[in-house]
Amino acid sequence: MSEQGDLQIRPDADGVAHALAEAFVRAAGDAIAERGVFNVALSGGKTPRAGYELLATEPYRSQVDWSKVYVYFGDERCVPPSDERSNYRMAEQAFLGAVGVPRENVHRIRGEIDPGFAANEYASLLRTALGNAPQFDLVLLGLGEDGHTASLFPGTLPQVDDGALVRAVDAQPEGIWRVTITPRVINSAERVVFAVEGAEKASIFATVYAGPKDPMRYPAQLVAPSSGNLTWLVDTAAASALPR
Ligand code: 6PG
Repeated sequence: MSEQGDLQIRPDADGVAHALAEAFVRAAGDAIAERGVFNVALSGGKTPRAGYELLATEPYRSQVDWSKVYVYFGDERCVPPSDERSNYRMAEQAFLGAVGVPRENVHRIRGEIDPGFAANEYASLLRTALGNAPQFDLVLLGLGEDGHTASLFPGTLPQVDDGALVRAVDAQPEGIWRVTITPRVINSAERVVFAVEGAEKASIFATVYAGPKDPMRYPAQLVAPSSGNLTWLVDTAAASALPR
């Protein structure tokens, strides 16, 4: 595996979705076999949604002991859970509502309250549930065309060593606030999996994956698990600008 992580190229978006579902099932099986629980942080966005929807179908659904799955969110928009922009709502609709995860195992970020308070509240929840150095078994991420991931946008200071576990972010492009886990939490994970698809991501993916390091400009480059595995699930179109 290269420094940038393990690159797995699939023919198309559907191939990326299946690869994401397979990665989820594998990570869940390993964690549950080893410790009896699977702690996962979900990403928002269109790309992971297709993989989530597959998890609610066979052969994936019956391969996971959903009673032992504990669902968190890598980030959330500061909107009510009923809002169509909510990552929680997207995940509920895509698979959580269908697979039988116990409701008490789903820990959404409360987008409906003050962003700063929601960030502090979520950090406390992570500390209570996972300890002061929370380590997810799997963190799922997407890649924005501006190089953001989760809700770490360009200009994010590479504060990988700051104390914060969760941060409120004024996501100017959308005119709303967001709440995001920090690079410190992402990089503590056992496994981090990016899902990237589409020709529109080709340039930014090549820059982030193979270009010079500039994490302030391309926050996805902040993702470098300290001891866990990093995997990129990318379709041919999104990988098309990689240097030969
Ligand atoms: C979100 C995600 C965000 C997303 C990227 C890529 O809340 O939307 O946290 O970081 O992963 O914007 O989104 P797509 O996969 O939809 O292109």
